[in-house]
Amino acid sequence: MKVGNLLGDKRVLVTGAARGMGRELAVEAARQGAARIGITDIDAAELDVTASLVAESGAQVRQLRADLRSTTDIREMVEEFAGWAGGLDTLFNNAGVLDHMFTDPDRTGVETLAEEVWDTVMDINLKAVWSAIKFAAPHLRASERGPSVVNAASVAGLAGTHMPAYGVSKSAVIQLTRVAAVNLAPHVRVNCYCPGSIRTPMSEAHLAAGTDKLARARSMYGTHLIPRLGLPVEVARTACFLASDEASFLTGVALPVDGGTMAWRGVHDSVAID
Ligand SMILES: NC(=O)c1ccc[n+]([C@@H]2O[C@H](COP(=O)([O-])OP(=O)(O)OC[C@H]3O[C@@H](n4cnc5c(N)ncnc54)[C@H](O)[C@@H]3O)[C@@H](O)[C@H]2O)c1
Repeated sequence: MKVGNLLGDKRVLVTGAARGMGRELAVEAARQGAARIGITDIDAAELDVTASLVAESGAQVRQLRADLRSTTDIREMVEEFAGWAGGLDTLFNNAGVLDHMFTDPDRTGVETLAEEVWDTVMDINLKAVWSAIKFAAPHLRASERGPSVVNAASVAGLAGTHMPAYGVSKSAVIQLTRVAAVNLAPHVRVNCYCPGSIRTPMSEAHLAAGTDKLARARSMYGTHLIPRLGLPVEVARTACFLASDEASFLTGVALPVDGGTMAWRGVHDSVAID
């Protein structure tokens, strides 16, 4: 069901759309009037579910298989989408991974992280974002429908974190956003958003991983001024705003969507576990 027209008639590509914020973003783009939506992931079964949800929300949808570790896949993903949709107006680089998805959680410090884990996280979180922008750029430059790129960064790219590759990759995404904004100005805007802890399969797995749930909760959202996990739709709405013509004077921005985490240096004494 349509709830607004932020993305009216735009042709939109969303990476990492099989679950979490990527799924919500694809559905919100449809609710916000996007005409054609390309969704990509490595998880084919869950991508099917997203495709049904997007179609129910009134947009035409195309599933594209791409492993973001492969530059060839990324190029084919962009070209296949642009061929199907007749162009590309909005690139949402949403997909991202954490260090501990590829290794023992006890081996995710600067002293213990394996080189191949560093490389994998950097390939998916950073190099793939650059590659997707690179291949999308000619299509974005040709667009007459308010073209832009919106990247998923993180508060972990704004302050220190315990995950070396993740934190560094997200800092670099913020800088890549600025560099791409410079290179593609003035026609193509490039922005990113920095979520705090958001309720997705990624964060739920993290919350469930420890034995001391209260300690986990405190570490994840005890620093939110709004003391709860954020919701995927709260991030999806922000991402759609950044991509919309309503944000026509915003480029090179890193916008926190973080319940106020970056606005203070405190931790709540009590955190409810919901
Ligand atoms: N969840 C949070 O609290 C949080 C906080 C800050 C930033 N973020 C960022 O927001 C984005 C979305 O996070 P999420 O929590 O929805 O993540 P998620 O783990 O729930 O979903 C990520 C999606 O990316 C896909 N993916 C992973 N590797 C891939 C690859 N090689 N090729 C193609 N697809 C691949 C996964 O299959 C999955 O569908 C990420 O960039 C993440 O770093 C999340």
